[in-house]
Amino acid sequence: MTAKGQKWRELLSPYVYLSSNWISRVGVVFVTTAFVLWLYLLPTFIRGEVTHPYAGILIFLFLPAAFVIGLLLIPVGIVLRARRDRRRGTYPTDFVPLDFHNPDFRRLLAFIGIVTIVNVLVGSQLVYSGVNYMDTVTFCGETCHTVMQPEYTAYLHSPHARVACVQCHIGPGASWFVRSKLSGLKQVFAVLLNTYPRPIPSPVTSLRPARATCEQCHWPSRFEGNRLVVIPRYAEDQANTLTYDVLLMHIGGGEGNQGIHGAHVGPGVTIRYGSDASRQKMYWVEYENSRTGKKALYVAPGVNPKSINPRRGRVMDCIDCHNRPTHIFYMPGQAMNRAMAAGKISPSLPYIKKEGVALLKQPYSSRAQAARRIPAELTAYYQANFPAVANQNAAEIASAAGALVTIYGRNVFPKMRVTWGTYPNNLGHKYFPGCFRCHGTLHNPSVTYEKIPRHCGMCHAVLAQDEAHPKILDELGLTDPSSSSPGP
Ligand code: HEC
Ligand code: HEC
Ligand code: HEC
Ligand code: HEC
Ligand code: HEC
Repeated sequence: MTAKGQKWRELLSPYVYLSSNWISRVGVVFVTTAFVLWLYLLPTFIRGEVTHPYAGILIFLFLPAAFVIGLLLIPVGIVLRARRDRRRGTYPTDFVPLDFHNPDFRRLLAFIGIVTIVNVLVGSQLVYSGVNYMDTVTFCGETCHTVMQPEYTAYLHSPHARVACVQCHIGPGASWFVRSKLSGLKQVFAVLLNTYPRPIPSPVTSLRPARATCEQCHWPSRFEGNRLVVIPRYAEDQANTLTYDVLLMHIGGGEGNQGIHGAHVGPGVTIRYGSDASRQKMYWVEYENSRTGKKALYVAPGVNPKSINPRRGRVMDCIDCHNRPTHIFYMPGQAMNRAMAAGKISPSLPYIKKEGVALLKQPYSSRAQAARRIPAELTAYYQANFPAVANQNAAEIASAAGALVTIYGRNVFPKMRVTWGTYPNNLGHKYFPGCFRCHGTLHNPSVTYEKIPRHCGMCHAVLAQDEAHPKILDELGLTDPSSSSPGP
């Protein structure tokens, strides 16, 4: 044995002796566990198999923190032990040399060995399933239950209920993956510290450009032709009179610039715009078509075209129209129309549309309060105004009340301050400005003050508007409201 090795052993042996105390042992457990889990997680993370921000938090925050805390606990335990021994006078004057005859050293090695083996065995099982779980919809939607409740509830009842959150919110590829990790870190702190904004703000400015996410499944050259949209509407009169809007939407797309999709996301087209933070008020829009060479700038009234730098604008993509592809919230009247057409609320109940909308719009302090008061007040309304109906149709009233509570529960979230109209839907122009944020609103300052057009037949043929018996529906045999298409 060299003199140098001997010296080293002499120096260390007091620490090994002193480290047999429970604080240092906990430290050892922390250090080894964090290290082993980290070794397991890192490769899956680097390969991009984990797509959830929380995995990043675990890898970059919690495990390193546990490691450091463990490293600190070991000397703390040693110092406390040394002090205690000195106080009691049991501090050894001489230490057993540090080799395998030293029982403290053997114990320490055995302890580290056992903890590591346990970590390797348990960790290999836990890490993989844990990481997979983090990517699931349940985790995204339910872990931060209150925070995500509005989006998760709407999502569950949407056409994309089987598409995982991460497919739209993160999508494939490494760079967005890392970006989402970073913004995920911020979000987790906001939830832990209870400082997250209510409602969660929309638009999501860090959302990946939709063309890279939506086009995993839908791409404009596959859209074609027209789509028949039938919208039933019940009036707020005693009979809940039913009328229809029937539109033939010019979906467009294909290989050209025809129709709605061809005009904005077709080949060669780039539309940029500048707007306020909510993207509800447009200041200017620039249209550019590299195939036809057309370039045009349109501005809102009062905006000086010279002050605009189009390169700084946002490039229009799918979510400028489809901003609610899955987190779809309805307005009270719209939700009532849908529920009545689907037979969940009987249109034979007098004034049910008017009463239903009024009950939905009332402020309630919580969802539980709404679930109590809506049925009570609906029943009271019929008992007071239509006692005969209240008696004979008690079951219909009860199921209508149930449907109203469901509508409320899917659209209003008092804890998150989400209520009717909090999240506008841009796909249309009836309830929110939607298409008309640009169409018919912005004009071309240079030429003839020409506006982005707004003729009624441009986006859809209006086959019927507010008609009780549209001829087109008779011809197509679609006179039952439940056969109507749901609309946005
Ligand atoms: C079909 C694609 C898609 C899926 C699937 C999806 N989202 Fe979204 N999400 C969006 C779009 C688009 C927006 C709004 C973007 C905008 O207006 O900036 C959004 C917005 C949000 C917002 C911000 C608040 C709001 O309503 O605008 C939250 C929170 C959210 N999503 C959570 C989730 C969760 C949780 C899941 C899974 C349960 C999920 N999303 C699944 C596309 C999707
Ligand atoms: C993982 C695949 C996938 C992704 C990603 C995806 N979708 Fe879809 N989308 C679907 C499927 C499947 C349907 C058909 C659902 C149905 O017919 O019920 C659909 C339906 C739709 C519809 C028609 C809804 C209706 O009411 O008929 C629209 C609009 C739509 N998606 C837009 C989007 C947008 C915008 C995005 C990106 C933010 C997106 N989708 C991302 C799979 C996807
Ligand atoms: C200018 C607004 C606008 C843009 C931009 C836009 N869409 Fe649409 N999209 C619409 C409208 C309007 C409809 C018809 C809605 C309806 O029928 O109720 C539609 C319908 C659809 C449908 C259903 C098609 C069908 O045949 O039923 C899908 C899927 C879709 N869009 C996906 C996309 C994707 C993906 C993008 C981005 C590449 C995109 N849209 C960009 C306005 C837009
Ligand atoms: C951000 C601004 C903006 C929004 C929002 C917008 N558009 Fe457009 N749209 C344009 C511009 C710009 C053009 C091209 C005008 C031109 O040719 O100079 C256009 C063209 C069109 C055209 C082709 C018009 C033609 O003459 O052939 C259709 C159809 C259309 N849009 C439908 C829609 C629908 C439907 C919506 C809502 C779902 C919508 N747009 C929302 C900016 C917008
Ligand atoms: C820039 C495109 C565009 C123009 C121009 C346009 N619309 Fe629409 N319109 C839409 C879209 C998109 C919807 C939503 C379709 C859906 O519900 O699926 C819609 C919906 C409607 C609806 C049904 C509303 C509802 O939900 O009950 C009516 C009615 C209507 N439009 C009438 C008109 C009339 C009348 C004009 C002429 C003043 C007009 N539109 C001009 C794009 C347009």
